[in-house]
Amino acid sequence: MSENNWTIEHDDNNIAWVHFDSPGASANLLSQVAIKELDNIIKDFEQNLPRALVILSDKKDSFIFGADIKEFTALENKEQALAFMHNGHDLMNRLEALSCPTVSMIHGLCFGGGTELSLACNHIVASDDKKTKIGLPEIKLGIHPGYGGTARSIERCGPLAAMNIMLTGRALTARSAKKINLIDEMVPVRQLKAAAEYFALNAPKRKQLPFLTRITNSSLLRPLIAAQMRKQVATKAKAEHYPAPYSLIDLWKKYAGNKKLMLEKEAMAVADLATTDTARNLVRVFFLQENLKSQGKQTDFDVKHVHVIGGGLMGGDIASWCAIQGYSVTVQDQSPQALAQTIKRAQYSFNKKFKRDRRAIRDANDRLMADHRGAGIPRADIIIEAIFEDKDVKRTLYESIEPRMKESAILATNTSSIKLEDLSSCLKNPGRLVGLHFFNPVALMPLVEIIRGNETDETVVQQALAFGKNIGKLPLAVKSSPGFLVNRILMPYILEAVTMVDEGIPAEVIDKAATDYGMPMGPIELADTVGLDICKSVANILSEALGMPLPDNLKQLSDKKLGKKTGEGFYQYKGNKPVKNKRASYSDPQEVQDRLVMRLLNEATACLREGIVEDKDLIDAGVIFGTGFAPFRGGPLEYIRSCGIDKLSQNMASLQAKFGVRFERDGGWDEL
Ligand code: NAI
Repeated sequence: MSENNWTIEHDDNNIAWVHFDSPGASANLLSQVAIKELDNIIKDFEQNLPRALVILSDKKDSFIFGADIKEFTALENKEQALAFMHNGHDLMNRLEALSCPTVSMIHGLCFGGGTELSLACNHIVASDDKKTKIGLPEIKLGIHPGYGGTARSIERCGPLAAMNIMLTGRALTARSAKKINLIDEMVPVRQLKAAAEYFALNAPKRKQLPFLTRITNSSLLRPLIAAQMRKQVATKAKAEHYPAPYSLIDLWKKYAGNKKLMLEKEAMAVADLATTDTARNLVRVFFLQENLKSQGKQTDFDVKHVHVIGGGLMGGDIASWCAIQGYSVTVQDQSPQALAQTIKRAQYSFNKKFKRDRRAIRDANDRLMADHRGAGIPRADIIIEAIFEDKDVKRTLYESIEPRMKESAILATNTSSIKLEDLSSCLKNPGRLVGLHFFNPVALMPLVEIIRGNETDETVVQQALAFGKNIGKLPLAVKSSPGFLVNRILMPYILEAVTMVDEGIPAEVIDKAATDYGMPMGPIELADTVGLDICKSVANILSEALGMPLPDNLKQLSDKKLGKKTGEGFYQYKGNKPVKNKRASYSDPQEVQDRLVMRLLNEATACLREGIVEDKDLIDAGVIFGTGFAPFRGGPLEYIRSCGIDKLSQNMASLQAKFGVRFERDGGWDEL
């Protein structure tokens, strides 16, 4: 087990500086070995007490990234999970009980187990650097803090602030962490060591939390507050899909009066949660995300300037997103009015992103320039085209801009349905055209599909993947084929929903069947949100290429009822929200859900068979990050695996008998 994650340095004041440096890794992980090693070090200190102890990291930009999630995947049962938690608890309890001052000195990322280790120290100091982020994100993996972080964060910050960070899993800047008392002090990096030394030598007493904060932890108020918390959580996550937040609220409600008991129950609760399908699937989703992040790592694509053509819904948001990510951007549109709107909307995005950070807002503004005549074209390293979805209009544009482009620049189109080959054939260098398919809304959707046309140079694909990663998105390389990956899989599901509306099933029932399954939004509301004209144009392409019949409701579209943007589609909209009939009902909601889900799953297997992306995991990743497909189910193909192919095949067969050939099992099922 000897890995030697830790080294100890004693200074003249007899402060023991305990350095964490996982050998051969870019970040420190609090693995079981690292826990055991530190536990032994603390045991030695119990015998031979230093004047104080400071825990710090030798990694450049991170403190401790958290527990080693890979070890979680090896847990086979509750007993193993409990033993795992107890190892962490033993260390944290021992550290907390050590009778000399203990200090955690944080610079860079500090998550999960790293934060829990810090909470077991008497004092926490952190650098005010941008890279410093502190959080307890366990909830995103289907568990909650399990190394004592629940009780100790509540003790430090009070229940409202602590439960908030644990329930949302969000990462705090040092400033925000200081505000809620999660850390004691925040200083510039150059003063961090001195600050840690100050706390080690002086051990100043921590101020008591205000009376009003303390009282929220009383046994009288806890049940009331907990009920409120459950209500709030229920608006985002159903208990049967995501048990962890509810388990955390229960833990606090029942045991917050008794720290020792709460710690014991915490370990048991996390051992229960860690072996659920939800946790397994969320851990899987974490690794899928890491996999996508690594897609853009092969190439260094040094982009100094981005030029976006088309400042409409998508182009405008892509331009402001790139400016937010630090790029110098020019945005061009044929219409000066549209361009004025683009800049106005960008203001909104900057304010939303940077909140009150005026300097960051000003810098983003400086980076984004309206450029009616396309002066940015000759200096751009990447040109992103997001104009009308019209092949001829796009081709005319390409012909006019190619002679002005830098030799090395790449041309990326955001088209959602036009074949890349139909666009690239007008270029002198067709190899430079790649698809960069963003999803709406750009700021919220993590995925970007990188479409590899038949003519696209492999280097250009790699550059596009790198650019996708560098602007903070999850890039996924996809074969050029109708609907690419995400729309292709989503469309049959939406078409089935619209067919059901044609049959007279209420839209509300259909949407509820989907959200009950775990989708973030029902298919009818989604179609309204995307725009029924856009849905129809993608559906047309797919129906032509893959023989999917178009439901009547989509065939006969009225210009006044295109969805949310016109105030009416399948629903009417009031203040951007659909007006839904809460009493709408239907005799067989399970069948509605089966029809929706089975169409989606079947198309996912078809994409596997056709090799639309490189492997099965990438299909799941694309569908989760491109559509919000129920992450706790691990992706469509993982869902088929966990439900059982035979069972779902029977389901398909009975739907086919009733509704016809569109429910015929695709050959892709045999490849699973
Ligand atoms: P939009 O209609 O909102 O914006 C298009 C903009 O392009 C308009 O402002 C127009 O003035 C400008 N434009 C048209 N021709 C131009 C030219 N020759 N030179 C300069 N500017 C020109 O359209 P939207 O929705 O932003 O779509 C743009 C592209 O993004 C399309 O290819 C679409 O398929 C794709 N897309 C759309 C999504 C959506 O949800 N709307 C999602 C993903 C991709």
